[in-house]
Amino acid sequence: MPWTLLESVTENDARLELYSRDGIFMIRANGLELMSGFCHDSEMALGQLAAQLAPAREPRILIGGLGLGYTVAALTDALGTAGTITVAELSGAVIAWFQRYVKPSVLPMVAGNLTIIRADIAELLSAGHAYDVIVLDVDNGPEPLVRAGNAALYSQAGLAALRAALAADGVALLWSGFESEDFAARARAAGFAVACKPFSRARPDLAHYIYALGRSRAALRHFA
Ligand SMILES: C[S@@+](CC[C@H](N)C(=O)[O-])C[C@H]1O[C@@H](n2cnc3c(N)ncnc32)[C@H](O)[C@@H]1O
Repeated sequence: MPWTLLESVTENDARLELYSRDGIFMIRANGLELMSGFCHDSEMALGQLAAQLAPAREPRILIGGLGLGYTVAALTDALGTAGTITVAELSGAVIAWFQRYVKPSVLPMVAGNLTIIRADIAELLSAGHAYDVIVLDVDNGPEPLVRAGNAALYSQAGLAALRAALAADGVALLWSGFESEDFAARARAAGFAVACKPFSRARPDLAHYIYALGRSRAALRHFA
């Protein structure tokens, strides 16, 4: 059965499309698959890892972006009602599509500690908050895909802003479809301790990666 195009929009210089097939959804950005409900194990692992790394008492967690909500669903499932979770999503259409089509199957119950806002994650990183865990899954890795402006997030200045937005023992997690030595080197230069874990699925040629950037080396002690 082929994918059915449900909606499309051009926002922030990107052509976004929502497709469905057999009750499963997929978002394409500029013709490339950004997120598919047929393949969400590593996005859920990302959310579970964020919960594991969060402090037990009142964790403050920031996620960018929403996509189809699998990372957020795994995080809220693991964390329950503790602390606060803020999701920054750049696209108003993605939020509307999530509410209208995706939420009933991915995140039917929204906990009171979860807030989804329409915002560029970069704005929240420079707002003076201190997060215990920041999760970045806005492109397909540390290279801009959704919008050219996202390149700034992975630059040395962007990584310095990311580090400044973390609490003393805080960790940032980044989902990636590829390994990037250049990114790891820039993160180290910005003062992070860096670790990277491959997430292998049934097909080894489709390994995904989770980068953990610790504000301190001690912050990565639970990232096995
Ligand atoms: C790969 S998807 C996220 C997938 C998500 N982890 C999931 O489980 O479905 C990337 C999302 O980030 C959003 N995004 C892209 N750039 C952003 C930015 N600068 N700030 C906030 N959200 C952004 C996109 O609109 C898209 O919804």
